[in-house]
Amino acid sequence: MQGLPMERLTLLYSREEVAGRVKELAEAINRDYAGRELLIVGILKGTFVFLADLIRRLKVPVIVDFVGLSSYGLGSESSQQIVLTKDLQVSIEGKDVLVMEDILDTGLTVDFVLKFLRERRPASLKLCALIDKRERRIVPVAVDYVGFELDKGFVVGYGIDYAERYRHLPDIHRIELEDEQGREK
Ligand code: IMP
Ligand code: MG
Repeated sequence: MQGLPMERLTLLYSREEVAGRVKELAEAINRDYAGRELLIVGILKGTFVFLADLIRRLKVPVIVDFVGLSSYGLGSESSQQIVLTKDLQVSIEGKDVLVMEDILDTGLTVDFVLKFLRERRPASLKLCALIDKRERRIVPVAVDYVGFELDKGFVVGYGIDYAERYRHLPDIHRIELEDEQGREK
């Protein structure tokens, strides 16, 4: 009988490394938005830990809101259908908006979010991603602040999940599936 696949985690970015990058990102954002009020839009759920840490290092006045999305596979990655499941509660018209995402992968999610936010006429619209898997991009996305660039692999921890699990881990890990014999899948 086939054993259940086991999930093997290996440390990728330690909590100290993550905290260091978050501090640097916050310093850049503080410089760029000095004298302005910033409206941060977090994409649920993967950004909640990153966002909580980053905003506590900001010195500019901040408003925080969230959007929720669902994506439905239509056969292939490039034909994902993305639907808004939770809209903003605040108006972004005329505001300086910074979208925060946990991981930029194909770019489809963020592209969808940036497009509908742009229609609401913010004064400016920028993007901050904790992890950028640039090589996997299908839709081109301009990203203004990046924590880490990653070429391959699936990661969990620091708010980021695999099937809704592992969000609570303080560090960021690679996750791989292996069967009972320890063979990689
Ligand atoms: P995109 O639309 O392909 O850019 O997908 C981005 C979304 O896919 C992110 O918000 C994550 O939820 C998810 N995702 C992509 N890569 C990973 C990963 O390595 N771990 C966990 N979630 C991921
Ligand atoms: Mg996500």
